[in-house]
Amino acid sequence: MPLVTSKELFEKAYKGGYAIGAFNVNNMEIVQGIFEAAIEEKAPLIIQVSAGARKYARHEYLVHLIQASMEMAEASGVSIPVVLHLDHGDDFDICKKCIDGGFTSVMIDASKHPFEENIRITKEVVKYAHSKGITVEAELGKLAGVEDDVKVSAKDATYTDPNEAKEFVARSGCDSLAIAIGTSHGAYKFKGEPRLAFDRLAEIQAKLPNFPLVLHGASSVPEDLVEVCNKYGARIPGSRGVPEDMIAQASKTGVCKINVDTDLRLALTGQIRKVFHENPEEFDPRKYLGPARTAIKEVVKRKMRIMGCSGKA
Ligand code: G3H
Ligand code: 13P
Ligand code: ZN
Repeated sequence: MPLVTSKELFEKAYKGGYAIGAFNVNNMEIVQGIFEAAIEEKAPLIIQVSAGARKYARHEYLVHLIQASMEMAEASGVSIPVVLHLDHGDDFDICKKCIDGGFTSVMIDASKHPFEENIRITKEVVKYAHSKGITVEAELGKLAGVEDDVKVSAKDATYTDPNEAKEFVARSGCDSLAIAIGTSHGAYKFKGEPRLAFDRLAEIQAKLPNFPLVLHGASSVPEDLVEVCNKYGARIPGSRGVPEDMIAQASKTGVCKINVDTDLRLALTGQIRKVFHENPEEFDPRKYLGPARTAIKEVVKRKMRIMGCSGKA
């Protein structure tokens, strides 16, 4: 099966009451672990590449790794629909490069700009993307946290306004919308009790019926992954992520795409720490990247089950 756009996947997800996991990739082991999980779970998949990942691993390598993974899946008799998505595209230029370079979906994240400017930039990307049959995710509202070199403090974060969301979608023509309802990027999302504004989510949905919404910053930072990291030398404070039951609830209520990066980083790094702790003299990369790849697979399978997309390929 060739790469697909998010359009048909989101239609099915919306109707079926589940979300599709969108996982960030940076190297071969991460790509392989995610694909192994999707094949075992028979789940649709969104592979996403940030500007930083694109710079680190290079665009061509990532595209070819994904193509190779799809060929391997086909050869094993499992066909899973896969979207190759640009995560947090900053401007028209990077979106165009990804569209021209084989991506089937792009995110233009102009959420740091004022409303009118966000619409203008998003519209420009939509026009080009749609002329090539590619889907566009945009963002409205401000998440707290860190992505690349952009840092938004909790006091500057703002929930998405439902009326603005409706106007934004109508005027920009975007195919899906990332909203801010209390999640944030990175490992520290909540100081106290975790809280997602499900009332706000419902208000946005009422204004945008049947329209796919996206949740960024949705890692759960589960205690077991934190524990492995800390047991072998990290100092990550107790779980500060989005509880898994809240992810399950969002998945059932109109959120069609849920982004996860931090939990993959924790899973991978925990296993690498463990190997070096147990054998400080180890220097065969396969001996520490192999267990890391397996840990990625396991965490992705767990996410797919929580989001309800297992068995939906
Ligand atoms: O939302 C951002 C993702 O976690 C990607 O992070 O920009 O460091 O690759 P990155
Ligand atoms: P986390 O940092 O919660 O994994 O969020 C990742 C994300 O939103 C990527 O766009
Ligand atoms: Zn994000």
